[in-house]
Amino acid sequence: MTVDVWDAHAAQRLAQAPPQPLESPGRMEWTQRPGIGPGAEILGHGLAGRRIVELGCGPGHTTAHLVGLGARAVGVDRSRGQIRRAKGHYGHLGCEFVNADAIAYLTREREPLDVIVSVFGAIGLAEPSKILSACSRRLDRKGVLAFSVPHPQRTGVIPASPHTLDQVALRDGTLAALKRWDIDPAAWARALNRAGLLVTGLHNLFAPADSRWPTTLLITARKP
Ligand SMILES: C[S@@+](CC[C@H](N)C(=O)[O-])C[C@H]1O[C@@H](n2cnc3c(N)ncnc32)[C@H](O)[C@@H]1O
Repeated sequence: MTVDVWDAHAAQRLAQAPPQPLESPGRMEWTQRPGIGPGAEILGHGLAGRRIVELGCGPGHTTAHLVGLGARAVGVDRSRGQIRRAKGHYGHLGCEFVNADAIAYLTREREPLDVIVSVFGAIGLAEPSKILSACSRRLDRKGVLAFSVPHPQRTGVIPASPHTLDQVALRDGTLAALKRWDIDPAAWARALNRAGLLVTGLHNLFAPADSRWPTTLLITARKP
């Protein structure tokens, strides 16, 4: 039986301790280290009242930050355990979290969205043409898509194949395999264009700041 990495990760975290209520984070993080690169301002100013969906929200920090800015943000994650963690941390702030596959959620709902975000989330883990087309269909005119993924050049070499199998270390020391779409910035730009989106920014982020190679690729795009 194949065990989902994130279900296993969430189960271990939940077994350790129930998720504690947290305050909404003061900054949006696009990398796995705090304080590096831009924050939520790259999504546009005046996020209050904006309809935002986070794909692959995990424990919900980004969704909670956006709700703290006044946005109507919903966090979506296909791992039931991750959604339990997100609700445990931020349910008390009125944040909405939905247990669903990102593409299924985008396809079954109809309301046009102002912003879609993914932070090391479903974009990069699902087949790019399918998830980008689903995002494009749901974005309103001038709507913004922004996502961060592990940088394809993080080891110094861009992988020859678009699929890489990463090893993820779980807290109990077990290594789990994770398949990701590790494609270079130009290939992301082509995939976004094919989905009907215009690239507005490509950022190579170094986290930690003294890394030899960029660790995070942050891309912004918009619906014409
Ligand atoms: C590395 S975690 C990132 C969590 C969160 N964005 C953060 O920065 O803390 C990736 C998350 O994406 C979720 N995920 C992966 N593929 C997904 C999909 N197709 N639909 C919805 N969620 C997905 C996983 O369950 C996991 O919680």
